[in-house]
Amino acid sequence: MSVEKQSFADNKRSVRGHDFTWTENHLTAEQLMPLRQQADDLGLAVVEKLLAIVAARKEAGEKRPDLYTVLKENYANDSTLTEFWEETHAVPDWVDWEEIERGQAFLYRYLAPNITGIVLQGCLGENASTAGTAEVFIRTGGFNVPVLPKRFLETFQWQIQATQSLESLQPGGEGHISTIRVRLLHAMVRHRILKIVDQNPEYYDFEKYGTPINQLDSMHAICVFCVNTPFVQLPKLGINPDPQMIKEYIAVYRYIAYVLGTPTEYFSTVEQSKATMESIMLSEPGPTDSSTVLTSNFIEMIRDFSGVNISKSLIETGVRKINNDEMADQLGLSKPGYFYQALFRGYCGILVFVYRLQRLLPFVDRFLTNMSKQFLVETVMGSAMLKGGSKYEFKHVPSLKKRTTFQYRPIGGAGMFRPVETLSCIAFLIQVLLYAAPIFVAGKVLSGYIQPVHV
Ligand code: HEM
Repeated sequence: MSVEKQSFADNKRSVRGHDFTWTENHLTAEQLMPLRQQADDLGLAVVEKLLAIVAARKEAGEKRPDLYTVLKENYANDSTLTEFWEETHAVPDWVDWEEIERGQAFLYRYLAPNITGIVLQGCLGENASTAGTAEVFIRTGGFNVPVLPKRFLETFQWQIQATQSLESLQPGGEGHISTIRVRLLHAMVRHRILKIVDQNPEYYDFEKYGTPINQLDSMHAICVFCVNTPFVQLPKLGINPDPQMIKEYIAVYRYIAYVLGTPTEYFSTVEQSKATMESIMLSEPGPTDSSTVLTSNFIEMIRDFSGVNISKSLIETGVRKINNDEMADQLGLSKPGYFYQALFRGYCGILVFVYRLQRLLPFVDRFLTNMSKQFLVETVMGSAMLKGGSKYEFKHVPSLKKRTTFQYRPIGGAGMFRPVETLSCIAFLIQVLLYAAPIFVAGKVLSGYIQPVHV
């Protein structure tokens, strides 16, 4: 499918505080909306076949096998399974492995800003506020506060597997297999929701939200992972990554989109990817009631998290700064005062300082990239919650009566000391001193010229 070009006379646009120029690469809502009725039909057909094999094996007394293993053992015996296997193992001619390998370092190179951006804008501002995505998650129960930390870690596990080395992402590698598992998981969720709708058509509104896990929402999710990060999230924190690095990072996710069965032509160049992201942001109807539940539960999960112990007020301030007040109000967030705004400014100051140091001194850049990778791999892969690694099984199964509701954790628990807030406060005070010093010196100099008048 080729991306149809559009031309506009008045081409200035703004969405959630992100200003841009409408180009011929941008897509109108009319062009995008049909993608909400399309989905990974091959993935769905494969899951139906695999479930039939699993059912027969279970009847024969076997323990429920993992879907990927069933696929691997049976793909040669069925034309649909063969098509899926060959598609996911083929390498499109636009894939440049060297570029992808360089792009894989981006996550680790700017780890703290990336995580900050993905959490504040990706998870809270974009994913939770995408009407169709929110409607699916509200039905799976995956956003219930007790299970969210594990889900969150599983997403990081997948990101690590997809970026830890080139071999891991190439066909047959650990990251490649995990991406196929995630594609099967998505198809399982869709299969389950469609089955419920068969019996209860009122369960899910296809007209309003599109088919579950549709192509537009999937493109949106790809944007959140790799386009919003360099073009919206990092710049709002004060960081503007090198254009070459942006190109390499998008190349990684274009290939991931391919393996996941998500359209890739919308990510064919950096300009097209940015235009796709902006077009989707502009055409999204905005947060729904479900979005407010998901947002609230997500914040409950990350606030006062042991180790970093960040307060809810600082998270809410961050969401406001990195999205905008209108979006934050729609998501039902409160508006913390100047103290938290100062802390967030201080926090951004630290991120910008480290980023500039990395750009200035290549050895610092290499050291931090390696250290962050080691830290993330050890923290996530070594986590007791993942018990040696998730296989992305279908755990949060939608059912007619299940619907995620607002949930709260008890206040306190992680202690009074807040390391991120303390450091941010110090950084803010240093920034004030740095701004105040020139004013003080200028005042002194000027007072030398202007003599007081003695009567
Ligand atoms: C195309 C880009 C996408 C990527 C890279 C991606 C990635 C992932 C990953 C890594 C997992 C397994 C870990 C986890 O449970 O979080 C997962 C699970 C899941 N994803 Fe996606 N996803 C994408 C798009 C979507 C979309 C558009 C939806 C729509 C609602 C969606 C819904 C789900 C659901 C429901 C699960 C199962 C977990 C649960 O039930 O809570 N994903 N995805």
